[in-house]
Amino acid sequence: MERAWVFSVWNLFWPIMMMVLSCEKRRNSAGSPDTRSQSFLVIASEVACATTGPGSELMPRFCGSIISATARRCIFLNHHRAPTALPVALATLSTMAETEPMKKALISGITGQDGSYLTEFLLSKGYEVHGIIRRSSNFNTQRLEHIYIDPHNSSARMKLHYGDLTDASALRKWVDSICPDEVYNLGAQSHVGVSFENPDYTADVVATGALRLLEAVRTHIETTGRKVRYYQAGSSEMYGATPPPQDENTVFHPRSPYAVSKVAAHWYTVNYREAYGLFACNGILFNHESPRRGENFVTRKITRAVGRIKIGLQKKLFLGNLKASRDWGFAGDYVEAMWLMLQQDKPDDYVVATEDSHTVEEFLEEAFGYVGLNWQDYVEIDPRYFRPSEVDNLRGSSAKIRELLGWKPKVDFKQLVAMMVESDLERAKREKVLADNGYIASHQQP
Ligand SMILES: NC(=O)c1ccc[n+]([C@@H]2O[C@H](COP(=O)([O-])OP(=O)(O)OC[C@H]3O[C@@H](n4cnc5c(N)ncnc54)[C@H](OP(=O)(O)O)[C@@H]3O)[C@@H](O)[C@H]2O)c1
Repeated sequence: MERAWVFSVWNLFWPIMMMVLSCEKRRNSAGSPDTRSQSFLVIASEVACATTGPGSELMPRFCGSIISATARRCIFLNHHRAPTALPVALATLSTMAETEPMKKALISGITGQDGSYLTEFLLSKGYEVHGIIRRSSNFNTQRLEHIYIDPHNSSARMKLHYGDLTDASALRKWVDSICPDEVYNLGAQSHVGVSFENPDYTADVVATGALRLLEAVRTHIETTGRKVRYYQAGSSEMYGATPPPQDENTVFHPRSPYAVSKVAAHWYTVNYREAYGLFACNGILFNHESPRRGENFVTRKITRAVGRIKIGLQKKLFLGNLKASRDWGFAGDYVEAMWLMLQQDKPDDYVVATEDSHTVEEFLEEAFGYVGLNWQDYVEIDPRYFRPSEVDNLRGSSAKIRELLGWKPKVDFKQLVAMMVESDLERAKREKVLADNGYIASHQQP
């Protein structure tokens, strides 16, 4: 049934293509060499992307976009030069093919917190989502398990490919073969504390990694004439020592190798926009958390401990600077902001924040208080967790994105903490069952 359908579309395609090419031929006798080669280049690249790239099985996208684009061209040409019955036939076809072709997104860092939420969001919008994952001796796709469909199944719209931000050839290969409409660069060594211990690696992945991906996108656009939009995951850490409130015009004063690398990635993105006209946006996102936050980030470290302490699996929690103040939002809200930036007419940079900030101490109070515990009975300070240079206070001013793109956060601080504690409490209960029955060691935590 499906085969017969593909076959009939295929049979329809070639006669149309012949008509289109004859239109083009007639027009090209008067057109400039540039527009002539450009139009064939775009058609050829669409054909190549649709027939050879991953997802080439998606004939509707292929035929839809080719028929629709070329039909419109011919209608225009014939309207102005040689009115015949052709415009009417093509107009009908154009309307038939007008159904929006499935957009493709390519995400670096798809296995991370934001990558998993963004994938869910884009799938819900009808996208085909491609993700670059690192080779690891253990599976690193836990955050995607609930949306994973085996690629042998024709309904699978999320596809994973091995690659790394330190490997320019892999990035180029995937951009060229996937032919994405939107590229989201979320991949990073994203831990501020770790960046002091691994500064070279952090710079390579976060700063030069962004440059590599921008270059892959730029050369792809240059050789194919396609349109590709690029999102760069910027961070409030770039403001570092500059006092709040911080907005798009606030000067950067980064205080860690991570933050300095993010500043470099920010300016690479601006530079590619200005130098090559790339549709490239920087999202300057303030801290955003969720039950999927990495377990060595302070918020998740706290809520994990709350669950385990409450259930009797842990006694102490060791932390560093409790006075640091952050503007914490919910990651699920923030991925929508990333997408919104790429749907605009012009590329720009936006701060994404709740505009409400709390200290680590306040987070502790809220999280332990949620399960009826007093944090002071459990928390100890370990100077090892202090950073060589601290960032005291981050609080964003997100008026621009609220006014221009209509974005605003849906989850507030109390709801965020409750969501994380509840999730980690459930997890601790399951761990307890496993520990009580000897399946895991219960003394892994202090
Ligand atoms: N969450 C926040 O509060 C926040 C705020 C501002 C900006 N950001 C930035 O937003 C992005 C997403 O944040 P997140 O919270 O989702 O971070 P995350 O959970 O730490 O995820 C980072 C992702 O990057 C991948 N990655 C690491 N090194 C890589 C490499 N060399 N090549 C390719 N991929 C690599 C990781 O893969 P593995 O799973 O294999 O480790 C993971 O998928 C990051 O760039 C982060 O710096 C985050």
